[in-house]
Amino acid sequence: MKQSLKVKFLFYITALIICAMSLTTVVAYFSSKGAIHKAITEQLSQLAISTANQITFWIHDRKQDLTNWSGQQLYQTSLEDSYLGRAARESASARLKKEIQNYKYYESLNLANTQGEIVSSSDENSIGKINIVAEPFFQEALKDNNHLTSIMKSPVTKKNVFILSVPVKRNEVVEGVFYGVIDVDFFNALFITPIKIGLTGYAYLIGPDGTTIAHPDKEVVYNVNIQSFDWGREMMKKNEGFITYTWKNVEKIVFFKKNEELGWFVAAAAGTDEIFAPVRRLQLINILITLIFILVAIISITALYGRIILRPMDYLMEGIAGFGRGELDKKIELTTGDEFGALAGTFNKMAQDLKKTTVSRDALVKEIEERKRLENIVLQSEKMAAVGQLAGGIAHEINNPLGVVLGFSQSVVKRLSPGDPLEMPLKSIEREAVRCKALVQDLLTFSRTGKASKEETDLNRLVESSLSLVLAQAKVKNVELLKELSLNLPKILVNENQIQQIMVNLCNNAMDAMSQGGMLTVRTRRSSWKGKEALEIQVQDTGQGIPAEIKAKIFEPFFTTKEVGQGTGLGLSLVYEIIQKHEGQITVDSTVGKGTTFSVVLPLNISSP
Ligand SMILES: Nc1ncnc2c1ncn2[C@@H]1O[C@H](COP(=O)(O)OP(=O)(O)O)[C@@H](O)[C@H]1O
Ligand SMILES: [Mg+2]
Repeated sequence: MKQSLKVKFLFYITALIICAMSLTTVVAYFSSKGAIHKAITEQLSQLAISTANQITFWIHDRKQDLTNWSGQQLYQTSLEDSYLGRAARESASARLKKEIQNYKYYESLNLANTQGEIVSSSDENSIGKINIVAEPFFQEALKDNNHLTSIMKSPVTKKNVFILSVPVKRNEVVEGVFYGVIDVDFFNALFITPIKIGLTGYAYLIGPDGTTIAHPDKEVVYNVNIQSFDWGREMMKKNEGFITYTWKNVEKIVFFKKNEELGWFVAAAAGTDEIFAPVRRLQLINILITLIFILVAIISITALYGRIILRPMDYLMEGIAGFGRGELDKKIELTTGDEFGALAGTFNKMAQDLKKTTVSRDALVKEIEERKRLENIVLQSEKMAAVGQLAGGIAHEINNPLGVVLGFSQSVVKRLSPGDPLEMPLKSIEREAVRCKALVQDLLTFSRTGKASKEETDLNRLVESSLSLVLAQAKVKNVELLKELSLNLPKILVNENQIQQIMVNLCNNAMDAMSQGGMLTVRTRRSSWKGKEALEIQVQDTGQGIPAEIKAKIFEPFFTTKEVGQGTGLGLSLVYEIIQKHEGQITVDSTVGKGTTFSVVLPLNISSP
């Protein structure tokens, strides 16, 4: 679980970094690509345009050369068909030879008469041998026009050349033609090969028919006609512009411009790969930076995770586990000030709330126990009421026949003469009948407790008179009687007869519990009960005590631990019933082997007398 949280963190942050960096990379890539593209295309177009201009100027300069020469006396004289003319031709040829040494791009410089015969030339082999009367450049010059041919094979050297021709005039009359043959290779070396664009960029020249005139790659020159390519045809349709094409597996971006005068195209080309190399480098750097960022992020997150998350979390979990074990007083001491601190605070508060609930829960349990106890009491009194009714009915029915039995047995006993053999059985009948009568009387008292009238009574006097009833029995049972009666007790509203019954019953039970003799202590004192003034009677013995398991049952009617004929189990239930009627309480405190104390609390005044 810990691991997965860390992985999640890392995943999200890495994803975020990658997203952000890719975005900047893409933006940087496109903007730098745009900038570089713009810069390179500007460079290309400027180069092509300036080269085209240079060529134009250069051609103009050459025309100017030829025009200058054509005006020179020596060449004009050489055209005369005279002795002087023929003599001048030789020196003219010599001078022309010298000129081409100065101007290396001329393959030859020639002077032709109006018949097309070459009269003077830098190349003496062509003198008198070649006739150019059919050549357009000758015809044009004869018509007093300057002319520039397209590329052609030199009839002399078979090299690629172009020819510039000008008329030779005297007094506005064309007397011959002066023409220069310009070696294209020289031209190439002058304008095209020196041009370097970046590492692989270059310039080239295309003739009006699409033939490559000049190119750094010698194999291409004269061998490639761009009209055989789509891009070439497109290029030739326009006068200038950009074009992109693939040449020898390399993509090129090219700016071209047509030289109107020559009909030639000057093109400046560069490899797109090379152009955009810096952009790719930038991209690479970006990716590298991204990777470094991710690495740093992973390292720092791992480190921070331990410090900021793992440790406080362990601490929190430990604390919560403590709460789980019930250590609600142990606070989680976490003062990081962040969410973990807040969480710890929340848990601490929760623990305190939980503690409160636990306390109130304990109170609830107590309340429930109390209610159970009260329910038991109600059940008890209901049972008693039922028993009371039953017992009352039976007792009433038995009482009269018993009176008859007792009356007759007593009268018969009286009439017996001493020594009569019937004396023993008759006396037994009388004795048992008396016992039955007492039992029936108990039952009747029990059933009639509610109706008994109450009067203001001196409790001490009542207790004394009750004790006199058990005094004889105490002597027999070897029980010492001790009275601890508080003086000046207020009068109490009770049914004397019933209180006497309580005393007799409690004392009889006490004496029954002290089979080996002992001490019977009776106390009276002031007390209070349910916020009311009350008196308390205690009957304490040093008898066998009441085992815990039967303690709850002793007040039930007919519950007895005594042998048949010894106890009825009605004593304490009667006591209980009487005390209920007096709105008092009886409690018992007993230790097995040591003794028992019954405490009876009776309020001075009761609500329903
Ligand atoms: N002082 C006492 N010491 C020990 N046990 C007592 C004492 N008082 C009552 N008991 C127990 O309570 C039972 C019920 O008493 P009671 O209702 O008077 O009936 P009985 O005396 O007829 O048995 C007794 O059988 C006895 O086990
Ligand atoms: Mg009894």
